[in-house]
Amino acid sequence: MSKTAILEVNSEKFELPMVTGSENEVAIDISKLRDLSGMITLDPGYKNSGSCTSEITFLDGELGILRYRGYSIEDLAEKGHFLEVSYLVIFGELPTASQLEQFEKDITRYTLVNEEMKSIIDGFPKTAHPMGVLSALTSALTAFNPRSVNVENEKEMYEAVCKTMAKFMVIATWTYRKSMGYPLNYYDNTKGYVENFMRLMFELPTEPYKQNPIVINALDKLFILHADHEQNCSTSTVRMVGSSHAGLFASISAGVSALWGPLHGGANQAVLEMLEEIHRTGGDADKYLAKAKDKNDPFRLMGFGHRVYKNFDPRAKIIKKAADEVLSTLGVNDPILAIAKKLEESALVDEYFVSRQLYPNVDFYSGIIYRALGIPTDMFTVMFAIGRLPGWIAQWKEMRENKEPIGRPRQIYTGHPLRDFVTSEKR
Ligand code: CMC
Repeated sequence: MSKTAILEVNSEKFELPMVTGSENEVAIDISKLRDLSGMITLDPGYKNSGSCTSEITFLDGELGILRYRGYSIEDLAEKGHFLEVSYLVIFGELPTASQLEQFEKDITRYTLVNEEMKSIIDGFPKTAHPMGVLSALTSALTAFNPRSVNVENEKEMYEAVCKTMAKFMVIATWTYRKSMGYPLNYYDNTKGYVENFMRLMFELPTEPYKQNPIVINALDKLFILHADHEQNCSTSTVRMVGSSHAGLFASISAGVSALWGPLHGGANQAVLEMLEEIHRTGGDADKYLAKAKDKNDPFRLMGFGHRVYKNFDPRAKIIKKAADEVLSTLGVNDPILAIAKKLEESALVDEYFVSRQLYPNVDFYSGIIYRALGIPTDMFTVMFAIGRLPGWIAQWKEMRENKEPIGRPRQIYTGHPLRDFVTSEKR
Protein backbone atom coordinates (compact mmCIF):
# COMPACT_ATOMS: atom_id res chain seq x y z
CA MET A 1 0.00 0.00 0.00
CA SER A 2 1.45 3.39 -0.94
CA LYS A 3 2.06 5.73 1.97
CA THR A 4 0.85 9.30 2.23
CA ALA A 5 1.80 12.27 4.41
CA ILE A 6 -0.68 14.72 5.87
CA LEU A 7 0.22 18.40 5.99
CA GLU A 8 -1.98 20.43 8.30
CA VAL A 9 -2.09 24.21 7.88
CA ASN A 10 -4.59 26.22 9.96
CA SER A 11 -6.70 23.11 10.51
CA GLU A 12 -6.82 22.36 6.79
CA LYS A 13 -5.32 19.01 5.85
CA PHE A 14 -3.53 18.17 2.62
CA GLU A 15 -2.69 14.60 1.71
CA LEU A 16 0.60 14.19 -0.12
CA PRO A 17 1.96 11.01 -1.72
CA MET A 18 5.25 9.55 -0.53
CA VAL A 19 8.04 8.02 -2.57
CA THR A 20 10.36 5.30 -1.26
CA GLY A 21 13.70 4.59 -2.92
CA SER A 22 15.34 1.20 -3.37
CA GLU A 23 17.41 1.79 -0.20
CA ASN A 24 14.30 2.86 1.73
CA GLU A 25 14.94 6.57 1.54
CA VAL A 26 11.62 8.33 1.94
CA ALA A 27 10.39 11.55 0.35
CA ILE A 28 7.15 13.48 0.47
CA ASP A 29 6.09 14.31 -3.06
CA ILE A 30 5.06 17.96 -2.97
CA SER A 31 4.75 18.43 -6.72
CA LYS A 32 0.97 19.03 -6.42
CA LEU A 33 1.13 21.03 -3.17
CA ARG A 34 0.63 24.44 -4.78
CA ASP A 35 -2.32 23.20 -6.82
CA LEU A 36 -3.88 21.79 -3.64
CA SER A 37 -3.07 24.55 -1.18
CA GLY A 38 -1.67 27.63 -2.96
CA MET A 39 1.53 27.20 -0.95
CA ILE A 40 5.04 26.30 -1.96
CA THR A 41 7.88 24.94 0.16
CA LEU A 42 11.01 26.97 0.87
CA ASP A 43 14.43 25.33 1.11
CA PRO A 44 17.40 27.59 0.23
CA GLY A 45 20.39 25.54 -0.87
CA TYR A 46 18.04 22.55 -1.32
CA LYS A 47 19.19 21.10 2.00
CA ASN A 48 16.02 19.02 2.21
CA SER A 49 14.77 18.85 -1.33
CA GLY A 50 15.16 16.06 -3.81
CA SER A 51 15.16 17.33 -7.38
CA CYS A 52 14.66 13.94 -9.03
CA THR A 53 14.66 10.21 -8.61
CA SER A 54 17.81 8.63 -9.97
CA GLU A 55 19.21 5.14 -10.55
CA ILE A 56 22.84 6.21 -10.84
CA THR A 57 24.40 6.81 -7.43
CA PHE A 58 23.42 5.87 -3.91
CA LEU A 59 24.84 7.85 -1.04
CA ASP A 60 24.18 7.49 2.68
CA GLY A 61 25.83 10.40 4.43
CA GLU A 62 25.20 9.07 7.92
CA LEU A 63 26.79 5.69 7.22
CA GLY A 64 29.45 6.97 4.81
CA ILE A 65 28.22 4.81 1.91
CA LEU A 66 28.79 5.64 -1.75
CA ARG A 67 27.81 3.31 -4.60
CA TYR A 68 27.63 3.71 -8.34
CA ARG A 69 24.83 1.61 -9.86
CA GLY A 70 24.89 -0.62 -6.77
CA TYR A 71 28.67 -1.22 -6.65
CA SER A 72 30.56 0.10 -3.62
CA ILE A 73 33.12 2.81 -4.22
CA GLU A 74 35.68 0.75 -2.30
CA ASP A 75 35.21 -2.20 -4.67
CA LEU A 76 35.29 -0.05 -7.79
CA ALA A 77 38.39 1.88 -6.72
CA GLU A 78 40.24 -1.32 -5.92
CA LYS A 79 39.21 -3.50 -8.86
CA GLY A 80 37.90 -1.24 -11.60
CA HIS A 81 39.40 1.00 -14.27
CA PHE A 82 38.19 4.49 -15.04
CA LEU A 83 36.73 3.74 -18.46
CA GLU A 84 34.84 0.66 -17.32
CA VAL A 85 33.50 2.59 -14.32
CA SER A 86 32.54 5.42 -16.69
CA TYR A 87 30.65 2.91 -18.84
CA LEU A 88 28.93 1.57 -15.72
CA VAL A 89 27.92 5.02 -14.52
CA ILE A 90 26.66 6.13 -17.94
CA PHE A 91 25.00 2.96 -19.24
CA GLY A 92 24.00 1.24 -15.97
CA GLU A 93 25.95 -2.04 -16.19
CA LEU A 94 29.60 -3.01 -16.12
CA PRO A 95 30.73 -3.63 -19.70
CA THR A 96 31.66 -7.10 -20.88
CA ALA A 97 35.27 -7.43 -22.06
CA SER A 98 34.23 -6.89 -25.68
CA GLN A 99 31.93 -3.95 -24.84
CA LEU A 100 34.80 -2.32 -22.97
CA GLU A 101 37.23 -2.88 -25.81
CA GLN A 102 34.70 -1.43 -28.24
CA PHE A 103 34.02 1.57 -25.94
CA GLU A 104 37.75 2.37 -25.74
CA LYS A 105 38.01 2.07 -29.52
CA ASP A 106 34.92 4.18 -30.13
CA ILE A 107 36.25 6.95 -27.90
CA THR A 108 39.40 7.11 -30.02
CA ARG A 109 37.25 7.82 -33.12
CA TYR A 110 36.59 11.28 -31.70
CA THR A 111 39.89 12.27 -30.15
CA LEU A 112 40.78 14.71 -32.91
CA VAL A 113 39.68 18.19 -31.86
CA ASN A 114 38.86 20.67 -34.63
CA GLU A 115 42.00 22.68 -35.47
CA GLU A 116 39.98 25.89 -35.32
CA MET A 117 39.62 25.36 -31.56
CA LYS A 118 43.29 26.29 -31.35
CA SER A 119 42.60 29.85 -32.42
CA ILE A 120 39.99 30.12 -29.67
CA ILE A 121 42.58 29.02 -27.11
CA ASP A 122 45.00 31.55 -28.57
CA GLY A 123 42.62 34.32 -27.50
CA PHE A 124 43.13 33.57 -23.79
CA PRO A 125 45.95 35.11 -21.81
CA LYS A 126 48.47 32.55 -20.49
CA THR A 127 47.51 33.55 -16.97
CA ALA A 128 43.83 32.55 -17.39
CA HIS A 129 42.67 29.97 -14.86
CA PRO A 130 42.38 26.56 -16.59
CA MET A 131 38.82 26.06 -15.29
CA GLY A 132 37.64 29.26 -16.99
CA VAL A 133 39.34 28.20 -20.20
CA LEU A 134 37.90 24.67 -19.91
CA SER A 135 34.37 25.96 -19.45
CA ALA A 136 34.74 28.28 -22.46
CA LEU A 137 36.29 25.58 -24.65
CA THR A 138 33.61 23.05 -23.73
CA SER A 139 31.02 25.61 -24.68
CA ALA A 140 32.91 26.33 -27.92
CA LEU A 141 32.62 22.64 -28.85
CA THR A 142 28.92 23.31 -29.47
CA ALA A 143 29.95 25.42 -32.47
CA PHE A 144 31.70 22.43 -34.02
CA ASN A 145 28.98 19.98 -32.97
CA PRO A 146 25.80 21.98 -33.53
CA ARG A 147 23.42 19.05 -33.90
CA SER A 148 21.71 18.26 -30.62
CA VAL A 149 21.77 14.58 -29.70
CA ASN A 150 18.51 12.67 -29.88
CA VAL A 151 18.52 10.86 -26.52
CA GLU A 152 15.92 8.39 -27.68
CA ASN A 153 18.24 7.14 -30.40
CA GLU A 154 20.56 4.70 -28.60
CA LYS A 155 23.24 4.83 -31.30
CA GLU A 156 23.29 8.62 -31.42
CA MET A 157 23.45 8.86 -27.64
CA TYR A 158 26.30 6.33 -27.52
CA GLU A 159 28.26 8.33 -30.10
CA ALA A 160 27.65 11.55 -28.16
CA VAL A 161 29.01 9.85 -25.01
CA CYS A 162 32.17 8.71 -26.83
CA LYS A 163 32.63 12.11 -28.44
CA THR A 164 32.29 13.95 -25.12
CA MET A 165 34.65 11.60 -23.28
CA ALA A 166 37.23 12.02 -26.07
CA LYS A 167 37.19 15.74 -26.73
CA PHE A 168 36.82 16.88 -23.12
CA MET A 169 40.00 15.05 -22.14
CA VAL A 170 42.01 16.69 -24.93
CA ILE A 171 40.79 20.24 -24.31
CA ALA A 172 41.26 19.80 -20.55
CA THR A 173 44.95 19.12 -21.07
CA TRP A 174 45.24 21.91 -23.61
CA THR A 175 44.25 24.42 -20.90
CA TYR A 176 47.50 23.48 -19.16
CA ARG A 177 49.63 23.48 -22.31
CA LYS A 178 48.33 26.93 -23.13
CA SER A 179 49.36 28.22 -19.69
CA MET A 180 52.84 26.76 -20.20
CA GLY A 181 53.25 27.97 -23.76
CA TYR A 182 53.65 24.36 -25.00
CA PRO A 183 52.49 23.46 -28.52
CA LEU A 184 49.06 21.82 -28.52
CA ASN A 185 49.41 18.10 -29.17
CA TYR A 186 47.22 15.16 -30.18
CA TYR A 187 45.74 12.14 -28.44
CA ASP A 188 47.60 8.93 -29.27
CA ASN A 189 44.93 6.39 -30.20
CA THR A 190 47.29 3.48 -29.55
CA LYS A 191 47.50 4.34 -25.83
CA GLY A 192 45.03 4.19 -22.94
CA TYR A 193 42.81 7.04 -21.76
CA VAL A 194 44.60 7.90 -18.52
CA GLU A 195 48.00 7.31 -20.13
CA ASN A 196 46.97 9.81 -22.75
CA PHE A 197 46.11 12.33 -20.07
CA MET A 198 49.71 12.33 -18.79
CA ARG A 199 51.15 12.41 -22.32
CA LEU A 200 48.87 15.20 -23.44
CA MET A 201 49.81 17.23 -20.40
CA PHE A 202 53.56 16.74 -20.22
CA GLU A 203 54.93 15.47 -23.52
CA LEU A 204 57.39 17.85 -25.15
CA PRO A 205 58.15 17.85 -28.86
CA THR A 206 61.84 17.58 -28.05
CA GLU A 207 61.86 14.17 -26.38
CA PRO A 208 59.68 11.07 -25.92
CA TYR A 209 57.42 11.04 -22.86
CA LYS A 210 58.15 8.24 -20.39
CA GLN A 211 55.08 6.89 -18.59
CA ASN A 212 55.17 5.86 -14.95
CA PRO A 213 52.65 3.06 -14.20
CA ILE A 214 52.41 4.12 -10.54
CA VAL A 215 51.23 7.54 -11.65
CA ILE A 216 48.74 6.10 -14.15
CA ASN A 217 47.24 3.76 -11.53
CA ALA A 218 46.95 6.50 -8.94
CA LEU A 219 45.25 8.84 -11.40
CA ASP A 220 42.92 6.12 -12.60
CA LYS A 221 41.80 5.53 -9.01
CA LEU A 222 41.31 9.24 -8.35
CA PHE A 223 39.18 9.60 -11.48
CA ILE A 224 37.01 6.66 -10.34
CA LEU A 225 36.49 8.25 -6.93
CA HIS A 226 35.24 11.44 -8.57
CA ALA A 227 33.07 9.81 -11.26
CA ASP A 228 29.69 10.69 -9.76
CA HIS A 229 28.21 12.05 -6.56
CA GLU A 230 24.47 12.29 -7.17
CA GLN A 231 22.85 15.75 -7.06
CA ASN A 232 25.84 17.92 -6.07
CA CYS A 233 26.13 21.55 -7.21
CA SER A 234 27.75 20.96 -10.62
CA THR A 235 25.64 17.90 -11.45
CA SER A 236 22.44 19.70 -10.52
CA THR A 237 23.65 22.52 -12.76
CA VAL A 238 24.20 20.11 -15.67
CA ARG A 239 20.71 18.66 -15.17
CA MET A 240 19.16 22.10 -14.78
CA VAL A 241 20.77 23.53 -17.93
CA GLY A 242 19.97 20.35 -19.85
CA SER A 243 16.34 20.51 -18.69
CA SER A 244 15.83 23.46 -21.04
CA HIS A 245 16.96 21.04 -23.78
CA ALA A 246 20.31 22.80 -24.13
CA GLY A 247 22.87 20.40 -25.62
CA LEU A 248 25.29 18.13 -23.80
CA PHE A 249 28.40 20.29 -24.32
CA ALA A 250 26.57 23.46 -23.25
CA SER A 251 25.26 21.73 -20.11
CA ILE A 252 28.68 20.32 -19.22
CA SER A 253 30.29 23.70 -19.72
CA ALA A 254 27.90 25.08 -17.10
CA GLY A 255 28.83 22.16 -14.83
CA VAL A 256 32.51 23.06 -15.17
CA SER A 257 31.76 26.61 -14.01
CA ALA A 258 29.76 25.35 -11.04
CA LEU A 259 32.54 22.94 -10.09
CA TRP A 260 35.13 25.70 -10.11
CA GLY A 261 33.91 27.38 -6.90
CA PRO A 262 35.99 26.83 -3.74
CA LEU A 263 33.02 25.39 -1.82
CA HIS A 264 32.76 22.64 -4.45
CA GLY A 265 35.52 21.23 -6.70
CA GLY A 266 37.71 24.32 -6.33
CA ALA A 267 38.30 23.19 -2.77
CA ASN A 268 41.07 20.81 -3.88
CA GLN A 269 43.18 23.75 -5.08
CA ALA A 270 42.22 25.78 -1.99
CA VAL A 271 43.27 22.91 0.32
CA LEU A 272 46.72 22.72 -1.17
CA GLU A 273 47.18 26.48 -1.06
CA MET A 274 46.08 26.42 2.58
CA LEU A 275 48.50 23.61 3.47
CA GLU A 276 51.33 25.38 1.64
CA GLU A 277 50.58 28.57 3.53
CA ILE A 278 50.61 26.74 6.88
CA HIS A 279 53.94 25.21 5.92
CA ARG A 280 55.39 28.54 4.74
CA THR A 281 54.32 30.31 7.91
CA GLY A 282 55.94 27.82 10.28
CA GLY A 283 53.59 24.81 10.29
CA ASP A 284 51.25 25.94 13.09
CA ALA A 285 48.13 23.90 12.21
CA ASP A 286 46.34 24.89 15.44
CA LYS A 287 46.41 28.56 14.45
CA TYR A 288 44.43 27.71 11.31
CA LEU A 289 41.98 25.55 13.24
CA ALA A 290 41.36 28.55 15.52
CA LYS A 291 40.82 30.77 12.46
CA ALA A 292 38.32 28.28 11.04
CA LYS A 293 36.37 28.31 14.31
CA ASP A 294 36.37 32.09 14.63
CA LYS A 295 32.98 33.35 13.43
CA ASN A 296 34.49 36.78 12.73
CA ASP A 297 37.00 35.26 10.35
CA PRO A 298 35.68 34.17 6.92
CA PHE A 299 38.37 31.46 6.76
CA ARG A 300 37.10 27.87 6.53
CA LEU A 301 39.14 24.75 6.88
CA MET A 302 39.20 23.79 3.23
CA GLY A 303 38.64 20.11 2.49
CA PHE A 304 36.51 19.79 5.61
CA GLY A 305 32.77 19.42 5.88
CA HIS A 306 30.19 18.14 3.49
CA ARG A 307 26.55 18.82 2.82
CA VAL A 308 25.68 15.15 2.86
CA TYR A 309 28.40 13.23 4.71
CA LYS A 310 27.98 13.64 8.44
CA ASN A 311 30.20 10.82 9.63
CA PHE A 312 32.98 10.38 7.12
CA ASP A 313 33.48 10.72 3.39
CA PRO A 314 34.34 7.22 2.09
CA ARG A 315 36.33 8.76 -0.76
CA ALA A 316 38.53 10.66 1.69
CA LYS A 317 39.37 7.41 3.50
CA ILE A 318 40.50 5.74 0.28
CA ILE A 319 42.43 8.81 -0.86
CA LYS A 320 44.22 9.23 2.47
CA LYS A 321 45.46 5.63 2.24
CA ALA A 322 46.39 6.13 -1.41
CA ALA A 323 48.33 9.31 -0.55
CA ASP A 324 50.55 7.35 1.83
CA GLU A 325 51.07 4.58 -0.72
CA VAL A 326 51.70 6.84 -3.72
CA LEU A 327 54.12 9.13 -1.93
CA SER A 328 56.12 6.27 -0.48
CA THR A 329 56.19 4.34 -3.80
CA LEU A 330 57.32 7.44 -5.65
CA GLY A 331 59.80 8.21 -2.89
CA VAL A 332 58.29 11.64 -2.27
CA ASN A 333 58.66 13.11 1.19
CA ASP A 334 56.18 15.97 1.28
CA PRO A 335 56.00 17.91 4.55
CA ILE A 336 52.47 19.07 3.77
CA LEU A 337 51.18 15.50 4.12
CA ALA A 338 52.24 15.62 7.77
CA ILE A 339 50.53 19.01 8.17
CA ALA A 340 47.32 17.65 6.65
CA LYS A 341 47.38 14.67 9.02
CA LYS A 342 48.00 16.92 12.02
CA LEU A 343 45.09 19.18 10.99
CA GLU A 344 42.79 16.20 10.59
CA GLU A 345 43.86 14.68 13.91
CA SER A 346 43.24 17.93 15.80
CA ALA A 347 39.93 18.68 14.07
CA LEU A 348 38.55 15.22 14.74
CA VAL A 349 38.77 15.75 18.50
CA ASP A 350 37.82 19.42 18.48
CA GLU A 351 34.35 20.21 19.84
CA TYR A 352 33.63 22.74 17.04
CA PHE A 353 34.24 20.21 14.26
CA VAL A 354 32.79 17.23 16.13
CA SER A 355 29.53 18.98 17.03
CA ARG A 356 29.06 20.19 13.46
CA GLN A 357 29.98 16.77 12.06
CA LEU A 358 32.81 18.16 9.95
CA TYR A 359 35.14 15.51 8.52
CA PRO A 360 37.76 15.52 5.76
CA ASN A 361 36.11 15.35 2.35
CA VAL A 362 37.33 14.08 -1.03
CA ASP A 363 39.38 17.23 -1.59
CA PHE A 364 41.42 17.09 1.59
CA TYR A 365 44.08 14.58 0.51
CA SER A 366 43.61 14.45 -3.28
CA GLY A 367 45.77 17.53 -3.91
CA ILE A 368 48.68 15.96 -2.06
CA ILE A 369 48.60 13.03 -4.49
CA TYR A 370 48.20 15.31 -7.52
CA ARG A 371 51.19 17.31 -6.34
CA ALA A 372 53.27 14.14 -5.95
CA LEU A 373 52.29 13.15 -9.49
CA GLY A 374 53.55 16.49 -10.82
CA ILE A 375 50.14 18.06 -11.51
CA PRO A 376 50.24 21.84 -11.02
CA THR A 377 47.93 23.24 -8.34
CA ASP A 378 45.66 25.27 -10.59
CA MET A 379 44.96 22.11 -12.63
CA PHE A 380 43.54 20.24 -9.61
CA THR A 381 39.94 21.24 -10.27
CA VAL A 382 40.36 20.31 -13.93
CA MET A 383 41.36 16.84 -12.68
CA PHE A 384 38.12 16.73 -10.70
CA ALA A 385 36.21 17.73 -13.85
CA ILE A 386 37.79 14.93 -15.93
CA GLY A 387 36.83 12.44 -13.22
CA ARG A 388 33.30 13.85 -12.89
CA LEU A 389 32.61 13.88 -16.64
CA PRO A 390 30.95 10.41 -16.79
CA GLY A 391 28.67 11.42 -13.91
CA TRP A 392 27.62 14.62 -15.66
CA ILE A 393 26.94 12.70 -18.89
CA ALA A 394 24.99 9.97 -17.07
CA GLN A 395 22.85 12.45 -15.15
CA TRP A 396 22.14 14.53 -18.26
CA LYS A 397 21.19 11.40 -20.17
CA GLU A 398 18.95 10.13 -17.37
CA MET A 399 17.23 13.49 -17.00
CA ARG A 400 16.43 13.66 -20.71
CA GLU A 401 15.43 9.98 -20.97
CA ASN A 402 13.06 10.43 -18.02
CA LYS A 403 11.57 13.43 -19.85
CA GLU A 404 11.99 15.58 -16.77
CA PRO A 405 10.31 19.00 -16.97
CA ILE A 406 12.32 22.19 -17.22
CA GLY A 407 13.97 23.05 -13.88
CA ARG A 408 12.32 26.19 -12.63
CA PRO A 409 12.15 26.76 -8.85
CA ARG A 410 9.71 29.21 -7.34
CA GLN A 411 10.42 31.87 -4.72
CA ILE A 412 8.81 33.91 -2.01
CA TYR A 413 9.05 37.57 -2.99
CA THR A 414 10.25 39.80 -0.13
CA GLY A 415 10.82 43.07 -2.04
CA HIS A 416 8.76 46.27 -2.21
CA PRO A 417 5.03 46.08 -2.82
CA LEU A 418 3.73 47.98 -5.88
CA ARG A 419 4.92 51.60 -5.96
CA ASP A 420 4.60 54.46 -8.42
CA PHE A 421 7.43 55.41 -10.78
CA VAL A 422 8.95 58.81 -9.90
CA THR A 423 10.82 60.68 -12.64
CA SER A 424 14.55 61.27 -12.02
CA GLU A 425 14.27 65.02 -11.29
CA LYS A 426 11.80 64.32 -8.49
CA ARG A 427 13.82 61.55 -6.76
N1 CMC B 1 35.48 25.10 8.31
C1 CMC B 1 34.90 25.72 9.36
N2 CMC B 1 33.58 25.67 9.64
C2 CMC B 1 32.80 24.98 8.78
C3 CMC B 1 33.34 24.33 7.65
C4 CMC B 1 34.73 24.39 7.43
N3 CMC B 1 35.29 23.79 6.38
N4 CMC B 1 32.33 23.72 6.96
C5 CMC B 1 31.21 24.01 7.64
N5 CMC B 1 31.49 24.77 8.74
C6 CMC B 1 30.54 25.22 9.77
C7 CMC B 1 29.70 26.39 9.28
O1 CMC B 1 30.32 27.62 9.60
C8 CMC B 1 28.41 26.17 10.04
O2 CMC B 1 28.63 26.58 11.35
P1 CMC B 1 27.40 27.22 12.23
O3 CMC B 1 26.39 26.13 12.33
O4 CMC B 1 28.03 27.61 13.51
O5 CMC B 1 26.93 28.39 11.42
C9 CMC B 1 28.26 24.64 10.05
O6 CMC B 1 29.62 24.15 9.98
C10 CMC B 1 27.45 24.08 8.89
O7 CMC B 1 28.05 24.56 7.67
P2 CMC B 1 27.20 24.93 6.39
O8 CMC B 1 28.00 25.88 5.57
O9 CMC B 1 25.82 25.33 6.78
O10 CMC B 1 27.11 23.52 5.68
P3 CMC B 1 26.80 23.26 4.18
O11 CMC B 1 26.27 21.90 4.10
O12 CMC B 1 25.97 24.36 3.62
O13 CMC B 1 28.23 23.36 3.47
C11 CMC B 1 30.36 22.81 2.59
C12 CMC B 1 29.01 22.27 3.09
C13 CMC B 1 31.13 21.68 1.92
C14 CMC B 1 30.11 23.90 1.54
C15 CMC B 1 31.15 23.38 3.79
O14 CMC B 1 31.40 22.37 4.72
C16 CMC B 1 32.45 24.04 3.37
O15 CMC B 1 32.45 25.22 3.02
N6 CMC B 1 33.62 23.29 3.41
C17 CMC B 1 34.87 23.83 2.93
C18 CMC B 1 34.93 23.75 1.42
C19 CMC B 1 35.12 22.34 0.92
O16 CMC B 1 35.96 21.59 1.39
N7 CMC B 1 34.35 21.98 -0.12
C20 CMC B 1 34.43 20.69 -0.77
C21 CMC B 1 33.20 19.86 -0.56
S1 CMC B 1 33.41 18.13 -1.00
C22 CMC B 1 33.68 18.06 -2.66
C23 CMC B 1 32.67 18.74 -3.50
O17 CMC B 1 31.49 18.71 -3.26
O18 CMC B 1 33.11 19.32 -4.49
